[in-house]
Amino acid sequence: MKLWLDTANIEEIREIDRWGVLAGVTTNPSLAAKEGVEFEALIKEIAAEVDGPVSAEVVSGRRESMVEEGLKLSQIAPNVVVKVPVVPEGFAAVRDLAGRGVNTNMTLCFSPAQAILAAQAGATYVSPFLGRVDDISNDGIGLLSEIVEIYRVQGYRTLVLAASLRHPQHVVDSAKAGADVATMPCAVFRALVKHPLTDNGLRRFMEDWESYQASLGHPAARGGDRA
Ligand code: G3P
Repeated sequence: MKLWLDTANIEEIREIDRWGVLAGVTTNPSLAAKEGVEFEALIKEIAAEVDGPVSAEVVSGRRESMVEEGLKLSQIAPNVVVKVPVVPEGFAAVRDLAGRGVNTNMTLCFSPAQAILAAQAGATYVSPFLGRVDDISNDGIGLLSEIVEIYRVQGYRTLVLAASLRHPQHVVDSAKAGADVATMPCAVFRALVKHPLTDNGLRRFMEDWESYQASLGHPAARGGDRA
């Protein structure tokens, strides 16, 4: 399962990219709006920063205009993936875009039936929104598992992108369920690495190392740059 960031903020992307594990980025109109800069310039900057797919969403409502907008977005950079909602015009637009070799991500998926339609339309990715399903007291991971199972049984090639993840357990459960990609906000990415036993263990190792070096009359030679 690949790990992607769900953000349009370039500083967050740079921060996580330094970890060496970032494989892509998803954006949406709400995330782009927070940045307050021109959308195409923003996507261009993100696509240049990330070594992997970058989802950019269309905002048109009709098949023809979605396709036109999608083609324009896809020309910003080769790693741009055109995000399209799971609505009737959207399936048709994805079919057209796929026929022109454009990678697509069908978004706002809340049911296995919508995921079947996305696969039939030829989407590259489908994005079930787990957190929003949990928000209404339904089972987000259950939805993801059903989609993964259907795609396996049917041999669909569309990749399952677990989205709207709210905490590390969502990421772990998505991996267990067989998601191809998990996209998450920066706060969830930062939370993935946190464990008090790691922090305590590291502190003790450093203290012991420093005592050891001091007992030998050496200045601390290694580990001096550890936070
Ligand atoms: O990738 C989908 C995501 O942007 C939605 O997340 O937290 O707004 O439900 P959220």
